[in-house]
Amino acid sequence: MYDFRIEAADKATLYAELTDAAVALTAGEPDAVANMANVAALLWESLPELNWAGFYRNVGGELVLGPFQGRPACIRIPFGKGVCGAAAATREPQCVADVHAFPGHIACDAASRSELVVPIVADGRLAGVLDLDSPVPGRFDQEDVSGCVKLIQRLETALAGMAEEGTRG
Ligand code: SME
Repeated sequence: MYDFRIEAADKATLYAELTDAAVALTAGEPDAVANMANVAALLWESLPELNWAGFYRNVGGELVLGPFQGRPACIRIPFGKGVCGAAAATREPQCVADVHAFPGHIACDAASRSELVVPIVADGRLAGVLDLDSPVPGRFDQEDVSGCVKLIQRLETALAGMAEEGTRG
């Protein structure tokens, strides 16, 4: 149905194309889990050097594992715990060059060395977080942070299950 081959020359273009593709994939679909599943698959296919890409959802003030690609992961993460919990508690992106040096890091996969987590806030409510993990230390830079923040901002209603149902082409 969809065949997105995204091989941009630079990161800014890559994230702009990824964002357009993710908006197209989620357009008209109000179900947050379905949208998270497709966005996780898109990021996994398009971003190099990842070993995990996916979502945790805010369920009653706790992060609960959502759709992802990669190895099986921790199911529940309290706010404030690990990199994901820090992003949820502060509502600020967390870009960690060396997860071994991060206090309270939760090692779901021993191969993970760096991590980028972006909170999803829609209508003043934390819906969850996007979590990207890499086996390469320092894999994520400020362009990855701003690219993912913009992507999440464009998708916040789709990922929070607040998008209007629409007709699909
Ligand atoms: N390392 C994360 C836990 C989630 S997984 O790696 C998928 C953390 O410390 O938040």
